[in-house]
Amino acid sequence: MLIADAPLVVCVGPGGVGKTTISSLLALRQAAAGKRSLVLTIDPARRLADALGLAELTNDPLEITAFSKMHPGGSLSALMLDPTATFDHMIGLLVPDPARRQALLSNRVYQNISRTLSGTLEYMAVERVHELFRTQQFDRVVLDTPPTGNALDFLEAPDRVATFFSDKVTRWFMPSVAESWTTRLWNRAGAAALSLIGRVAGQAFVDETVSFFSAFSDLLGPFRSRGEQVGKLLRDPHTVFLVVCAPDPARIAEAQVLSERLADQDCVPRAFIVNRVERAFLPGPGSIESAVLRAASLLGGQEEGERTRAFLDRLETLHRQQQSEAALHASAVEAVREFASPRPVFTVPRVPAGESPRDSLLAMYLGLFAKEEPS
Ligand SMILES: Nc1ncnc2c1ncn2[C@@H]1O[C@H](COP(=O)(O)OP(=O)(O)OP(=O)(O)O)[C@@H](O)[C@H]1O
Ligand SMILES: [Mg+2]
Repeated sequence: MLIADAPLVVCVGPGGVGKTTISSLLALRQAAAGKRSLVLTIDPARRLADALGLAELTNDPLEITAFSKMHPGGSLSALMLDPTATFDHMIGLLVPDPARRQALLSNRVYQNISRTLSGTLEYMAVERVHELFRTQQFDRVVLDTPPTGNALDFLEAPDRVATFFSDKVTRWFMPSVAESWTTRLWNRAGAAALSLIGRVAGQAFVDETVSFFSAFSDLLGPFRSRGEQVGKLLRDPHTVFLVVCAPDPARIAEAQVLSERLADQDCVPRAFIVNRVERAFLPGPGSIESAVLRAASLLGGQEEGERTRAFLDRLETLHRQQQSEAALHASAVEAVREFASPRPVFTVPRVPAGESPRDSLLAMYLGLFAKEEPS
């Protein structure tokens, strides 16, 4: 079974193709196999939260009981990542001294960087997975990826975030034994720069910046080694990357580029999932026409006959539309199979808009796992 033995499954793919939904289905599948399973999502659509029976998702794992009959021996939980809280939690682990920790957490420069540094979301997602495995609360985690579009951010984020704290700008602020920061600032940028920063941002800001970087200078080592561990988790041979895409040429092209770039980074996707595939499920007009006409003749009357004719016309149009869309989707799936080969390609049916969120999720689950499961 493809995902059965994977402690971590990472769902990647272009924006809006259904990554969060599929991640939840995979976590449900793991729970159905008797595991303690968690889906770590990022900004799930309201509909999905509804389908899972959750009024809200939180930064702590929440157990989902909406499908408990399907996973009697296992459990399903969901967590919505709050990157800032995760960053703060990590600082808590790295800085055991409460006074120093508090000083760092309340530093405005820290607060700003932890919220805005590029790659923080991705880094913190994997950091969180690492922490969840360390505390052994779950056997299986499915990691959803954010709509920013680039799953490679996950692979590059640990390096990028660590590099930020050791690049030239940072070192410039870091206190050195030989020089005080003011001397350096004075020497390098001169009096004009210093007074400009002071005037624009205020002396308090300059002081806070310096105290942030001096506090962080001690953390660089631990921060880097954590980043390395997190990077290793992603490249662990047991970690399974799955690419989700939609049956349209633009999304397929994006998925192909993504899968090649993942492979360049030693994270070869093991399988592909094409979501929202239209299947021609309406019976052809010919096959039901006679039944409908017969019913009309039994009911009798001119009016009944006309209504039946109008109904059949509508059905025929719908049938034709569905047929042509299904044919397009079938060839899109074929295109995915071509570049994915010999890796498997799975499909998830498009669920009609009128279904309830819960029924939609169940229909997708059955569509994905009933016949050839990604296993
Ligand atoms: N097979 C399907 N049939 C019908 N609707 C679907 C299907 N899969 C997903 N959806 C719906 O499409 C919407 C987008 O799905 P989802 O949020 O899972 O995509 P995403 O790839 O995570 O998006 P983003 O890149 O914005 O994070 C949701 O409302 C979801 O309910
Ligand atoms: Mg999503």
